[in-house]
Amino acid sequence: MSNGNLVERIQSLKKERNAVLLVHNYQRGEVQDVGDFVGDSLGLSQEAARTDAGVIVFCGVHFMAETAKLLNPDKTVLVPDPNAGCPMANMLTVRELIEKKKEHPGAAVICYVNSTAAVKAESDICCTSANAPTIMASIPEDREIIFVPDKHLGRWAAEQLGRKNVILWDGFCPTHQRILPEEIDIRKEQHPGAPVVVHPECTEETLAAADHVGSTSGILKFCRQSDAKEFIIGTEIGILHRLRKENPGKTFYPVTEIANCPNMKLNTLQKLVWCLEDMAFAIDVPEDIADKARQTIEKMLERS
Ligand code: 13P
Ligand code: SF4
Repeated sequence: MSNGNLVERIQSLKKERNAVLLVHNYQRGEVQDVGDFVGDSLGLSQEAARTDAGVIVFCGVHFMAETAKLLNPDKTVLVPDPNAGCPMANMLTVRELIEKKKEHPGAAVICYVNSTAAVKAESDICCTSANAPTIMASIPEDREIIFVPDKHLGRWAAEQLGRKNVILWDGFCPTHQRILPEEIDIRKEQHPGAPVVVHPECTEETLAAADHVGSTSGILKFCRQSDAKEFIIGTEIGILHRLRKENPGKTFYPVTEIANCPNMKLNTLQKLVWCLEDMAFAIDVPEDIADKARQTIEKMLERS
């Protein structure tokens, strides 16, 4: 089937199933174009919390669909490819978190949304890259914080607040680790004056070389509002589709083309058709962890 036919089939199946299609900013361009809502992790979880559709189809990675399911326990949440996971979320098990909590009794646990439901259930509050400093600031200053699993986001948020009592888990995003300050220097020479805009999952050295740091929606907003005509973008390259589509008069250069998350790209139009036809693959969260994990996310949404 051609892409045009696949899109038509998706539109008609969506109506038939009363489904809403939530799509992350890193998805393939053609998948973003059929989305009812395209956004960052925070925006997508807010949208999942307010939708009245009976079925949520989530084009992103597993933890995002799991978050939508936690917020909508009575709805069907589907993913087109069940293998689309996030390696960073898998860098921390719930057992390891329990051990860490024992080492620091009394510490508050903030988990990045890129984590499993079991880890969320053992945490006090969740955050995304759009609200990490705000959530961190909501913990009393004299209370220690264990931040999991992304060491880069945790360190950056703590720096924004000048906070010293934050214990970082040693997790990271393999895709954002590929965005190097040396490559930024090369791009800056090629495009002098272009602001460098990066995601807080990048390393400390890469963040230091940037003009602006933001979540995927933060990056979109910065580029929309800036008067600059050229931008150097340091995040997963899927975002370039939306940046170019929404800003036709501006030019966007990736720091590196190899910042490509293979998990995000597993979802395709064809798999979306199969997903809606077969109502597969459904996300389920074991009841014993769902309630506690939900509270962790809801607390974040209240403070965002
Ligand atoms: P955002 O919340 O900024 O969309 O990021 C999610 C993510 O997985 C980044 O790698
Ligand atoms: Fe996970 Fe990184 Fe892919 Fe985001 S880009 S889903 S953090 S591996």
